[in-house]
Amino acid sequence: MIGVSTDATSVRAQLENVHASLREELPGIERVAVAVYDDRTDMLETFIHSTDGDAPFALYEAKLADVPSLAELARSHEERIIGDLEALRRSPAHHTRRLLETGYRSSYTKPFYDHGELFGFVFFDSQQTHYFTDTVVRHLSLYSHLISLLIINALTPASMLRSAVDIAREMSHLRDEETGAHLDRMSRYARMIARTLADREGLDDEFVEFVFLFAPLHDVGKIAVPDRVLLKPGRLTAAEFEIMRSHVDKGVAIIDKMADSFGVGLAQHIDILRNIVQFHHESFDGSGYPAGIAGRDIPLEARIVSVADVFDALTTRRPYKEAWSNEDAFALLDDLAGKKFDADCVEALSSNRPWVERIQDRFRLTHGAFEGFHEAYLEDL
Ligand code: C2E
Ligand code: SIN
Ligand code: SIN
Ligand code: FE
Ligand code: FE
Repeated sequence: MIGVSTDATSVRAQLENVHASLREELPGIERVAVAVYDDRTDMLETFIHSTDGDAPFALYEAKLADVPSLAELARSHEERIIGDLEALRRSPAHHTRRLLETGYRSSYTKPFYDHGELFGFVFFDSQQTHYFTDTVVRHLSLYSHLISLLIINALTPASMLRSAVDIAREMSHLRDEETGAHLDRMSRYARMIARTLADREGLDDEFVEFVFLFAPLHDVGKIAVPDRVLLKPGRLTAAEFEIMRSHVDKGVAIIDKMADSFGVGLAQHIDILRNIVQFHHESFDGSGYPAGIAGRDIPLEARIVSVADVFDALTTRRPYKEAWSNEDAFALLDDLAGKKFDADCVEALSSNRPWVERIQDRFRLTHGAFEGFHEAYLEDL
């Protein structure tokens, strides 16, 4: 599948960057390593690592079939937390003993995939026992995806963007209300609006596709919002809403870290992503947040995503509200066209109702399950 030697130097520098930002938040993670899988030979090889102090492995090589615990993770797509490696001291696995000997006490391991095929594993190791609490793992979930994106990007540039979507998908499982199905739908509404406006606004196919790919990341900053605010069943107080609004700035900070770490591959298009994250709560009349900019000063990709996001937020249940009917949701959008929303974006959505309903039918369930999926919907939505 891959030649492991290509680009190893620059990827290593990138991994070290990611590790450095990670350690600002999670200082206890002393080691990050990536093993890449070669399906031709069934071999796992340590591709790169970023380590403080002694490296436990110069080069790690094993047949996946000989490491049943990792083979099982690869099959099940699950992550593994080992709270105390000491418990495995008697394990026959050479690498477990080496990790212990070099002072590591707990670990978190996650397989990653490209187009559904195992691509490798990301390993995070700490010298503290039981370092990988729920909170730590929640943050790592983002980083392990950034890292897998970086590795896949280095090895197969064309697949990089798909992985960006996988990041969003992973994020969507972090919190109940921001489900995979919400992201499936809102990104398709956004693409539909972009396509509808393409001629008039002079948008090329690439722009339309990037809006689709990046729209699911609009709320990436919500991972930094505490559960007691994000999952609150009732209305937010003014103070809580203040915290909530910070998801925009937090999201921008995350995207900027990503941009720093990835450099070239993503650089040309990172502005589209950044604009979506930064401006999706701005209002056409300037009454939005955080910047309060207005009209066409708001980048088009953000005006599009705002309509797509709110329409889907309205028509689905949230911890703080019931689902509205399409009728009511379109009525609100129409009311707010030219005020909160770009009227052209609202019109692009509301003039395509059958298309909207097909998207809703196809991605009806939350958590990404496809109930009610019919052959008829196989056409490109
Ligand atoms: P979200 O749930 O993804 O909603 C995105 C946007 O959809 C909201 O941005 C708002 O513009 C619109 N929206 C959602 N539900 C309604 C609704 O019932 N009525 C109207 N008129 N608009 C709606 P906004 O207001 O900036 O909120 C950002 C995020 O803050 C929301 O994202 C949600 O996570 C949280 N949030 C907002 N209000 C509440 C609340 O009362 N309780 C809780 N627990 N969370 C809230
Ligand atoms: C590695 O890190 O090189 C693979 C072995 C492990 O960490 O369990
Ligand atoms: C095993 O090798 O079967 C257990 C230890 C590990 O996979 O890290
Ligand atoms: Fe948001
Ligand atoms: Fe949303």
